[in-house]
Amino acid sequence: MKAKLCVLPGDGVGPEVMDEGIKVLESVGKKFGYSFDLHHGLIGGVAIDAEGTALSADTLQMCQSMDAVLLAAVGGPKWDDPKARVHPEDGLLALRKGLGLFANLRPVKTFDMLVDASNLKPNVVKGVDLVVVRELTGGLYFGRPKRQWTTSRGRRAVDTMSYSEQEIERIARVGFEMARARRKKLTSVDKANVLQTSRLWREVVHEVAKGYPDIELDDMLVDATSMRLIQNPTYFDVIVTENTFGDILTDEASMLAGSMGMLPSASIAGVPKKGVKIFGMYEPIHGSAPRRAGLNMVNPIATIVSVGMMLRYSLALDKEADAIDRAVEAVLKDGYRTYDIMSDGKTKVGTKEMGDLIARKVLGKQ
Ligand code: IPM
Ligand code: MG
Repeated sequence: MKAKLCVLPGDGVGPEVMDEGIKVLESVGKKFGYSFDLHHGLIGGVAIDAEGTALSADTLQMCQSMDAVLLAAVGGPKWDDPKARVHPEDGLLALRKGLGLFANLRPVKTFDMLVDASNLKPNVVKGVDLVVVRELTGGLYFGRPKRQWTTSRGRRAVDTMSYSEQEIERIARVGFEMARARRKKLTSVDKANVLQTSRLWREVVHEVAKGYPDIELDDMLVDATSMRLIQNPTYFDVIVTENTFGDILTDEASMLAGSMGMLPSASIAGVPKKGVKIFGMYEPIHGSAPRRAGLNMVNPIATIVSVGMMLRYSLALDKEADAIDRAVEAVLKDGYRTYDIMSDGKTKVGTKEMGDLIARKVLGKQ
């Protein structure tokens, strides 16, 4: 098999972590006998500098013709001016919308050997294994009207939270299917005590639930969820929620794993089912960390496990994806740590060394 992949390293530490993701992908190819056809493109600040736009029509088209997209990170102080015509983040939003990536999967798993890396007490974070399914192409991010204007009494701005039942139904299905493949518990998060969109959300989720009698469903308000995530995070298996709530809750949930440098994500254009290939884009959840760029310092594990998610969801290569997850775990067990997850008695390594160690484990070497 030969898969066609679009590689978008982006800004800051993006290219460094992407190199390690590709290194591990290639070791998977070598071990299992696949080759990957890699097509590089520009996104974010580097695209603004080279092409005047955060994502050119050509790059978007190239992505559309591939089996999957790997992305590292976008943004940096150079392109931060809020008054600028284009921002690196626009590239990300254009990619999500342009590729129909309506479902964002953000798994948060706390490794036993990293419980001390979290700011929370080990007994709270031990055993956390949840996934947030975030709606990604609707809600406040894309609803119209969306603008700022000047009235006789000063400036005013509006964003619009809008959802159709079809948009809610398909993301609910992703939540139920994910729960079915895991511990069969789904928490639907909304603000139905205040918002109309949330009332529709709750209605539609309960309609979809009729097709999933094997899944235990509960509704939770978003404010209560943010509290429960800190108070008792092992309560959760799968969380499904709308775009903005998901954005906020996933940053919060990421801290349960100790470091953002550990966490992958998948943005997919369909409902995941075993053996079915879905087009998707895969990226670490951390940003471009411009101050750490070029220092061979940051943790590449988030990108490496994102590559694993790509194998699983877009190429239906479960065994190969498992090999990556196992290699990461084995290297951590051997005591290797990047700075963000470092603790006493462990061996500190840089970005490249961590990538080498994991690639070698995939190949079955020490
Ligand atoms: C994320 C990020 C993006 C978002 C930004 C960079 C536009 O925070 O992926 O969570 O808000 O979706
Ligand atoms: Mg975010």
